[in-house]
Amino acid sequence: MQIIRTVKEMQLISIQLKNEQKQIGYVATMGYFHEGHLNLMKQARKENDIVITSIFVNPLQFGPNEDFEKYPRNKEKDTREAEEAGIDYLFLPSVDEMYPDKQLIKMHMERRVNVLCGNSRPGHFDGVLTVLTKLFHIVLPDKTYFGLKDAQQVAVVEALIRDHNFPIKLIGVPTTREADGLAKSSRNVFLNEQERKEAVWLYKSLLHGQQLVVDGVKNPDIIVKEVHELLREHVSGKVDYIEMLSYPDLLPVLDTNQNIILAAAIYFEEARIIDNIILNAK
Ligand code: PAJ
Repeated sequence: MQIIRTVKEMQLISIQLKNEQKQIGYVATMGYFHEGHLNLMKQARKENDIVITSIFVNPLQFGPNEDFEKYPRNKEKDTREAEEAGIDYLFLPSVDEMYPDKQLIKMHMERRVNVLCGNSRPGHFDGVLTVLTKLFHIVLPDKTYFGLKDAQQVAVVEALIRDHNFPIKLIGVPTTREADGLAKSSRNVFLNEQERKEAVWLYKSLLHGQQLVVDGVKNPDIIVKEVHELLREHVSGKVDYIEMLSYPDLLPVLDTNQNIILAAAIYFEEARIIDNIILNAK
């Protein structure tokens, strides 16, 4: 595995690989790998000639009161694990390398962002769009792999690729979970023992909501209310949102014959934890 630190070198390598007709698979990350990240890499490894992974904690997607500074980092362990996952190139740019000048262009997403995490984290997805536009131009992937744990991010990337005509196939990868069902996340390390026990109720409550839909309940308000009651009963953290929307457009649900996302987020003392279930229309 080769470690690349500059934009110029990464882009030159990618151009050369494309000239050699190699299929490039790409996994964008902020590091502190867990099995969720590694599963994206494993799938990319199976489906491409070359796999590129980047680690970049993108300051643009963190709000002023968010955890950019304390976001967990472990480059040595990540590098080892990327190598073991069979990654060909690990792109590790610094903040100055990615953002050397004041930005003259701001990206702004108009839809799919005024709900769920976009509502609680204003500007977050604009920052994600900016960094991914840059990374896609640098890495030149044929296929890119994103986790459905961040389903709103997948919806945003789908729009970016379509609106801006990137010749990239987006692959949404199912959420990797702990044995008890909690979605794996770099931020889970910030949960204390009690919160870690409670956190499983995020997924359990969403599963209950899913069951209501399967049982024929059609009113989203009823489903959201029941999920909320379960969370209030079992979790000490504060509920940020519980929403049921169409997917990937993230609009109000008009009927249960469309793809639906049921998603929730909870603020614990030191971490905000999110999860979702997507129900595909039959
Ligand atoms: P990060 O949180 O490091 O996540 C990198 C990728 O791993 C994302 O596609 C995310 O959805 C996926 N992922 C995280 N936990 C997962 C899990 N439990 N199961 C499956 N996939 C999981 O998302 C970001 O970084 C950033 O916003 C980024 C896209 C890199 C842009 O800065």
